[in-house]
Amino acid sequence: MEIIIAKDAEQAAAVVADRFEEVLHARGEDGAVLGLATGSSPVLTYRELISRHREQGLSFAHARAFLLDEYIGLSADHEQSYHRFIRDTFTGHVDIPDELVLSPDGEAPDPRAEAVRYDASIGEAGGVDIQILGIGANGHIGFNEPTSSFGSRTRVKTLTEQTVRDNARFFSSSDEVPIHVLTQGLETIREARRIVLIATGEGKARAVRDMVEGPVSAACPASILQMHPAVTVVVDESAARDLTHADYYRFIQSQKDRLDS
Ligand code: F6R
Repeated sequence: MEIIIAKDAEQAAAVVADRFEEVLHARGEDGAVLGLATGSSPVLTYRELISRHREQGLSFAHARAFLLDEYIGLSADHEQSYHRFIRDTFTGHVDIPDELVLSPDGEAPDPRAEAVRYDASIGEAGGVDIQILGIGANGHIGFNEPTSSFGSRTRVKTLTEQTVRDNARFFSSSDEVPIHVLTQGLETIREARRIVLIATGEGKARAVRDMVEGPVSAACPASILQMHPAVTVVVDESAARDLTHADYYRFIQSQKDRLDS
């Protein structure tokens, strides 16, 4: 794992945006397949990508995108749906074709069949080139809550009480937060060719430590990323607070910066 400790959330977002930009350029007209997350963690990254689109002409015209997850029972246009969130905070402000921003259908009459269809559609598009992830305070990625199988694919999951409470800030009350979701599985996420996870704030410090330095265990689903060959974890100082080897990660980073200059 590559661990980058940024001085603040803005710098962290710029680092993640750089990684997206590299992949967009590398894939060019072949079209990058972007894996997008919702929630607060990627918002500054999306803002940075929008400003690079507006000010530097960074183009998403050949790209397509797959969302990680969606609430069951919410339509794509519902104010709190993840499909709507991603359009409002990111894709609606760049030149990616709207019809190529795909998410599980939260209103599908048969959610299990929808999960299988959605999972297959990612493979049919050639797989995800770069996946951005946030991490839950309990170590979830996507909505793979603790004890999710490392072999899991896109499926229906029930949220933990903590995740429902954490997500209630986006709704008028926690009673309105759907408790069932469609989420890419851990195995599905692991198939992305590159993964960049962003975590900021001290509320994430423990989950970041468990993910990076703890045992690979279903108790911390994000720890599966230790098994992936191309993962970058970008954290700010607060989220890095509990890392035992923080000085080593900073040392590696300073050596890379020297090689690059
Ligand atoms: C969102 C997602 C979740 C969030 C996680 C962190 O699509 O899959 O795993 O990334 O719950 O949420 P925030 O960023 O709001 O702290």
